[in-house]
Amino acid sequence: MDLFSEIEEPEREELRALRKELEEQNYKYYVLNQPTMSDQEFDRKMHRLQDLEAMFPDMYDASSPTQHVGSDLAVTGYGLRVTGKGFEQVKHRYPMLSLANSYSREEIEDWVQKLPLNAEIVCELKYDGLSISLWYEHGVLMKALTRGDGQQGDNVIDNIKTIPSIPWRIERNDIPEWFELRGEVLLPWANFERLNKEREEQEEPLFANPRNAASGTLKLQDPREVARRGLEAYLYYMLGENLPGSTHFERLDTARQWGFHISDAIKVCKNVDEVMAYIAYWDTERKNLPVATDGIVLKVNNLTQQEELGYTAKTPRWAIAYKFPAEKQLTLLKEITYQVGRTGVVTPVANLEPVQLSGTMVQRATLHNEDFIRQLDIRPGDRVWVEKGGEIIPKITGRENREISHSCAILAPLSDYTFPTTCPECGATLVRVEGEAAWRCPNEAGCPPQIKGKIEHFVSRKAMNIDGLGEETIDLFYQKGLLKNIADIYDLKAEDIATQERLGEKSAQNILDGIEASKQVPWSRVLFALGIRMVGETTAKKIARKYNTIDALQWATAEQLCTIEDVGPQIAENIVKYFEDIRNLEILERLRQAGVQMEGEAEAAPTSDKLAGLSIVISGTFAQHSRDEYKAMIEANGGKNVGSVSKKTSFILAGENMGPEKRKKAEDLGIKMITEEEFLEML
Ligand code: IVH
Repeated sequence: MDLFSEIEEPEREELRALRKELEEQNYKYYVLNQPTMSDQEFDRKMHRLQDLEAMFPDMYDASSPTQHVGSDLAVTGYGLRVTGKGFEQVKHRYPMLSLANSYSREEIEDWVQKLPLNAEIVCELKYDGLSISLWYEHGVLMKALTRGDGQQGDNVIDNIKTIPSIPWRIERNDIPEWFELRGEVLLPWANFERLNKEREEQEEPLFANPRNAASGTLKLQDPREVARRGLEAYLYYMLGENLPGSTHFERLDTARQWGFHISDAIKVCKNVDEVMAYIAYWDTERKNLPVATDGIVLKVNNLTQQEELGYTAKTPRWAIAYKFPAEKQLTLLKEITYQVGRTGVVTPVANLEPVQLSGTMVQRATLHNEDFIRQLDIRPGDRVWVEKGGEIIPKITGRENREISHSCAILAPLSDYTFPTTCPECGATLVRVEGEAAWRCPNEAGCPPQIKGKIEHFVSRKAMNIDGLGEETIDLFYQKGLLKNIADIYDLKAEDIATQERLGEKSAQNILDGIEASKQVPWSRVLFALGIRMVGETTAKKIARKYNTIDALQWATAEQLCTIEDVGPQIAENIVKYFEDIRNLEILERLRQAGVQMEGEAEAAPTSDKLAGLSIVISGTFAQHSRDEYKAMIEANGGKNVGSVSKKTSFILAGENMGPEKRKKAEDLGIKMITEEEFLEML
């Protein structure tokens, strides 16, 4: 290291620090999906690094973040293996570059000035998801690659095939032998909200925004789960040799005719005024779109001009992004209150002076944990910034300088902030486990929100599904001393229930029927219903597959548990601890006595993933196996057996005497029919 010059030139030190910081941010953004820096700040620092590198050409480094795009591949510059399990890595035919960002009319004008005079500019929405590259060979979708490090990406084709708008095959004779379509994979707002709601119910960490959720989903190993979450894609760029058309706009129009999902919000503009009008329109209108957008992309329309303009190491010169400003407001932090969850986590909540943001009134926002509050250095009485960007949940990003806030007399003087040491609900002394950010109330059996939360979880739809026992009824029964834990549910009597206010005989019977039916709920769901920390629905299924009785599970060691897919040391320890608690053992015994399933046939795991993500219709009669046997085979290999033919059908398993209507519909939609021999061969 050049120590002498470091002393003389602090800029060299700054340059090294910036490279490290930006590399780290790339890692957090692309691999962990947890950026800790705003886009604006990232761009500002990147510009500064570019300036410094220009000042010190002797410090050129091909691996600097200025020279390459971020990476979502398995192994990063830090040598950490994080994602990409099991995906084939494929080199891109054309590198997948990023776009330069701009934030104002001036910056757009600067870019336009460098283009040929009167160049047409195509304006498109900038979708806020993950880029994907689809390879079609002889009309068949062959690969679907993530951006990766821009040079090579992960082939996530099985997951991509779950997106209904992406054709698997194009039957036309006017298409090139090979072409590539690039676009963005997104999780629509509605599906994102549904997914987060489910995760909240199961106390799994929430996705901060649809982009993170789409990214996590695309890297799942189980295409059925991907299909269930419901990804979508918009395509915006066609590449290849000898493609039709001389402009970008024409190419997208052609792709649309070939059956690809191309947005209608594409406009050819002749000057900056038209571009700014497009931006102004979509800055408001985008709030009505089903997916997240974070800006506009401007592209030179003429392909020859594009070629002449060429590329820098990281971005095309013929395109630029304009980023919408995140909506933010300053408001008063009136009070911090604390919420206790079913597992005892104490979450601080900011109670704000109500403020209008992206069309909704915001008056509460999560402050996550003590460290978050300390990092932002905020206290009640501060004026804080509330932001709502891609995130659905508003977040607090900082505070106003106190000297400015307190020159305004209405604000009360600040008192020092300290996180409570006792539980706001039951008074127990809070504990903080080393390595965890959360403070917890350890009084599991005596803290009201924990008791009620555990019962609510136990009866919920995906757990024991006991109809009629909602949040209010549980609260009422808890107040009356009828419910103190999950086992008490099975001691409820008709007369206890019917004599409560608001509950007549009919609802009492409804609750009792629900309780009775819950005794048939299979063991894997009972295990999930117990509410062991971090044991979600899927994990519970995997555990129940290996341990098909509660007795077997009770004696499993942490090491043995860790051999189950998805079970790490933390979950294993939670399970072991659960069975060490005598109160839990008593509850389990009472559940067993009541007739709840504490063991069961291990649910058969699919024997392969060969049909994962496929919707298959069975039609006609068969010689070698019965229809039911074929149905079981489809499910055992990860596929879905559906009743009627639609454009979403992957293929039809066609036997003798297939119904003429089904056959016609299949032919009209171009859906493949395969014989039972072909099907058996396939497996
Ligand atoms: S064109 C060579 N068009 O934004 C240029 N990108 O920040 C290829 N994006 O990596 C990209 N919407 O993932 C293009 N209409 C659009 C886009 C778009 C979103 C993403 C894309 C790209 C990123 C750059």
